[in-house]
Amino acid sequence: MIELLNVNKSYNGKTKVVDNLELTIKDGEIFGFIGPNGAGKTTTIKMITGILNPDSGSIKINGINMADKPLQCKKEFAFVPDSPDMFLRLKGLEYLNFMGDIYQVPKEARREKIKTLSERFEMDIALSDQLQSYSHGMRQKIIIMGALLHDPSVWILDEPMTGLDPKASFLLKEMMREHAQNGKTVFFSTHVLEVAEKLCDRVAIINKGRLLFCGTIKDMRVHFKAKESLEEMFLEMVDNE
Ligand SMILES: Nc1ncnc2c1ncn2[C@@H]1O[C@H](COP(=O)(O)OP(=O)(O)O)[C@@H](O)[C@H]1O
Ligand SMILES: [Mg+2]
Repeated sequence: MIELLNVNKSYNGKTKVVDNLELTIKDGEIFGFIGPNGAGKTTTIKMITGILNPDSGSIKINGINMADKPLQCKKEFAFVPDSPDMFLRLKGLEYLNFMGDIYQVPKEARREKIKTLSERFEMDIALSDQLQSYSHGMRQKIIIMGALLHDPSVWILDEPMTGLDPKASFLLKEMMREHAQNGKTVFFSTHVLEVAEKLCDRVAIINKGRLLFCGTIKDMRVHFKAKESLEEMFLEMVDNE
């Protein structure tokens, strides 16, 4: 579970890029965070993951307050950032073991998990190569694998489908579904509306840092009776801003 209460953020004291945001993401749901470029999605995710501090408001993950207990809070979730270009000098297996060490995954469970994940993502052969030799999609895959190694209760992803080929994207969606079906939380941002429409139990629409809607796609249809697709509803909301 993720809880945001009256969260505000501006860079350099200028205009608010996140404006009084309130959100609760429940256990067992896939929650889509949707908005155009510059809406404040990444900034919000950076606050949820403790990379940035909010100017005001509070963030809790599984009831633990990020500001009070950052380390404890960070153990509750896994994060897949929007850019996978990191730890490039490490080999795939070294990166996974590094993640396993950080999250204290026992050796036997770790070996098992690395085996199943690398087979599923067809990354087993690439594990002995450095991340800098990987394609964008492969870098994304290894980061997703590293994130799932400790079986996180909350899984946070920033624009995860970008750069994945159709097969990997399908697999990722399947894994997100499995994660939620196991009673865990999945929170991801996207500007690809079709993905959100198919995958999410609930969505939040954000523009210029403000929450425009939060609920199921079905709820949204009730608000926008004439509109067929999420795309039409989304455009009407954002254009009316
Ligand atoms: N480090 C930063 N310094 C100043 N402004 C920033 C910084 N990061 C993002 N912004 C601005 O904050 C707004 C929200 O950006 P961001 O959270 O990245 O949006 P999104 O992920 O929805 O595209 C944008 O107007 C962006 O230009
Ligand atoms: Mg972003």
